[in-house]
Amino acid sequence: MTAAMPPGSTVAVIGAGAMGAGIAQIAALHGHPVQLHDTRMGAGDAAKKGIATAITRLVAKGQLAQTDADAALARIATVVTLPDVCVAQLVIEAIVEEIGAKRELFARMENVVAPECILASNTSSISITALAAGMKYPGRVAGMHFFNPAPVMPLVEIVTGLATSPAVVEALYTTALEWGKTPVHAASTPGFIVNRCARPFYGEGLRLLAEGAADPATLDAVIREAGGFRMGPFELMDLIGLDVNLAVTTSIWDAYFHDPRYAPSVLQQERVAAGFLGRKTGHGFHDYAPGAAKSQPKTATSEPPPERVIVHGDLGNAAELAERIAAGGISVESARTDSRFPSGAIHIPGNAGGAWLALTDGRTATTRVVDTGVRD
Ligand code: NAI
Repeated sequence: MTAAMPPGSTVAVIGAGAMGAGIAQIAALHGHPVQLHDTRMGAGDAAKKGIATAITRLVAKGQLAQTDADAALARIATVVTLPDVCVAQLVIEAIVEEIGAKRELFARMENVVAPECILASNTSSISITALAAGMKYPGRVAGMHFFNPAPVMPLVEIVTGLATSPAVVEALYTTALEWGKTPVHAASTPGFIVNRCARPFYGEGLRLLAEGAADPATLDAVIREAGGFRMGPFELMDLIGLDVNLAVTTSIWDAYFHDPRYAPSVLQQERVAAGFLGRKTGHGFHDYAPGAAKSQPKTATSEPPPERVIVHGDLGNAAELAERIAAGGISVESARTDSRFPSGAIHIPGNAGGAWLALTDGRTATTRVVDTGVRD
């Protein structure tokens, strides 16, 4: 296995936003002098301040010695111009998710750093093969894709383009391991592994919102509480940044020849146009302004349980539900199959006919109401 970047080797991080700051923090805590560069005035210093706050928190929690914290912070320098990073042995770019900007940056880096310096991109979706095309040494270009927040999330995708050298891939893989991460190899396919798999998480959430199924707070709550996710899609998009998420979606949609499965949402586009970019601007799908009330999911009010339910026909793999109802102290009675629900149903008697829980047969609830005449 090719060795990791030696601890004393310089790591340059280009782009000092949410991801660049996190990556700089990781590299500095693992003994690397870090050079942080951003074209936006004050961005490097703001990132360094954020890193200092994050590191101080680690000290307070007893996860880091004060001397190590001080040493890590002292290793991070903000640099004003690109030629300042000429000694770097590894460059990780975390600038805007635009292929043109990233290609231009790498082309400029070739004139600044030594030929052995690895050029890694933290891109979420852009082809590493395309980023390397036309470069003098395309073999040194690879993806090193961290997840947000970078210091916390263990996964790192090491992305291989068609021209990437195996030694570069192994060096990045081993470096990620040294940095306490869980690296995985990924080919340079649109969205790599995670952002490909994650598309429906955002896309279906946005479609449900567009169809008026529920509001963002309710959809988030369903995914969190019923789906077991840490965050719902709207909370996660607000954390990622709506602009970044839209750019990633659009890039994957373009790369798959506008396959409608990956189509971006006009609802998201509109928010980006308004500058509602999520937490970073204080407003996205949710409102983060100081003092703003947290939007609440529309939860049905709790009702007293029924005394009995009636199971009609064979519930198949929903039989466990009837068992759980019985275990909850509710009397479960059996009846013959109701002709309106040939595949089995649970009737909860109550006012105006009560309610029916029917096994799905592929039709929507609305269609079944029309077909059966059962409204509840
Ligand atoms: P961000 O908007 O917080 O930060 C980007 C920074 O890059 C800004 O400070 C901007 O001034 C700077 N920048 C833009 N063009 C530049 C250039 N040519 N040279 C130097 N600096 C430049 O964006 P974020 O969220 O940090 O994303 C950066 C990259 O990381 C993108 O490629 C994104 O797809 C990727 N990424 C984002 C994740 C997220 O959850 N936000 C997760 C994983 C990857």
